[in-house]
Amino acid sequence: METKKRIGILTSGGDAPGMNAVIRAVTRSAIRKGFEVLGIRRGWNGLINGDVIQLTERSVSDIIQRGGTMLYTARCPEFRYEEGLQTAKQNCIKNNLAGIVVIGGDGTFRGAADLSARGIPCVGLPGTIDNDISCTEYTIGYDTAMNTAMEMVDKLRDTSQSHDRCSVVEVMGRNAGYIALNAGIAVGATYIITTEVPYSLDDVAAKILKAKETGKQHFIIMVSEGVGNAEGIAKEIEKRTGVESRATILGHVQRGGSPTVRDRVVASQMGYYAVELLERGIGNRVVGMQNSKIVDFDIQEALSMKKPFELDLYNIANELSF
Ligand code: F6P
Repeated sequence: METKKRIGILTSGGDAPGMNAVIRAVTRSAIRKGFEVLGIRRGWNGLINGDVIQLTERSVSDIIQRGGTMLYTARCPEFRYEEGLQTAKQNCIKNNLAGIVVIGGDGTFRGAADLSARGIPCVGLPGTIDNDISCTEYTIGYDTAMNTAMEMVDKLRDTSQSHDRCSVVEVMGRNAGYIALNAGIAVGATYIITTEVPYSLDDVAAKILKAKETGKQHFIIMVSEGVGNAEGIAKEIEKRTGVESRATILGHVQRGGSPTVRDRVVASQMGYYAVELLERGIGNRVVGMQNSKIVDFDIQEALSMKKPFELDLYNIANELSF
């Protein structure tokens, strides 16, 4: 009896809300096209260890609204070495995999390129809350994380207001300031500090004091993770302005929660698109969004691209916060 061709799917690197929606989209569209679907657990590790489960149209029911990833995720150092790649390749052949959809960031895509070069077509989808993948204007999980950050800071604002304080809030983003900028403008932060734009604490203090002169009594300062040191910044602000200041690091709460409409929709579009590529035998691609359209790139090309920071938006935030 001829065994059916299969498509594999895995999530790798840091999790992001919307990963489950991708798993559902890939599984359902691949089944429609006549494939079986294997869920590979804990990223590339599952491919090396043979930790796989069959996914059906029903096993991906009731997950589109859930944060996290039903396939678990992990980083996989063995995948950087030939031995790990060869074991993974043999397991793909053994499992009759026609291709693999991988959801993650740049590290995940490097693995996808390496395995594609060894004859197993892989398609990468951008899944990270950081929005720091250059070939795409949007990454799955970003919208949910920005909204979580906004909601958390709205709550902080209540207590800052009651106590006439300054809240210095550090948000995630690794070295990128997209969450800080967008959540910052959404909460009306007095100052947004990111690695992409030079800043000085004298400037921050001057802005607070100027706003204080016009009657403003509580302040939000948004700090991106790459800048860090929220505690130190809060201390300096208190010293320079006399405004009692507190630091809050939002941390991993930003990685969880039910995905927003945008994350569910983009996850569904990108998952569907990835299966279309694999159906045509096309691998070594990363799917992204450009001008709101779903597109794909060669992985090496995608990894070499640069993404400009949203300076216009930064300037608007600055103009509006006084
Ligand atoms: O890439 C997502 C992210 O949450 C970053 O914002 C953060 O720098 C990093 O992952 C944290 O990684 P870990 O969960 O391994 O601490």
